[in-house]
Amino acid sequence: MVRDILRMGDPRLLERSREVMPGDWPALATLLADMRETMRARDGAGLAAPQIGVRLRVVIFGVERNARYPDAEPVPWTELVNPVITPLDTAIEEGWEGCLSVPGLRGVVPRHAHIRYRGLDPQGRVIEREASGFHARVVQHECDHLDGILYPMRMRDLARLGFTDVLFPDSAVIDE
Ligand code: NI
Repeated sequence: MVRDILRMGDPRLLERSREVMPGDWPALATLLADMRETMRARDGAGLAAPQIGVRLRVVIFGVERNARYPDAEPVPWTELVNPVITPLDTAIEEGWEGCLSVPGLRGVVPRHAHIRYRGLDPQGRVIEREASGFHARVVQHECDHLDGILYPMRMRDLARLGFTDVLFPDSAVIDE
């Protein structure tokens, strides 16, 4: 089922979500199905459970190679429970981000350039990966939602926040 996405200003987006516990797993398949449908309906690159009002540490993300987004590096389709991110070095990169909870806007956000992330897949198996570039950015953006952080709260220069159609009048862009 396509669910409503909470938008910036809703205090629920500022809360910390709790870890998924053993008793939560039976409901997880339905939650993930709703998240997939909601993300695809809005053409997003990722979605976190708290964005649909579910305060659990669950994120999904993925970007296929797509002619509409020639600049977007592909990101493997991933459904992640209780994710943990570890930066691999001190390198920081700035890049443009959008968010389904902040519709119509884009901003330049600093993120760790190289990370390791670890979590469980929907079958309870461990996923552990290293990521860099856009992949690392998407993971950090989604996991921030689990701690009540929206990307404008990470920005260092609000002069670099603007409306997508003004900033990028000629290109299709994707929202995280
Ligand atoms: Ni977002």
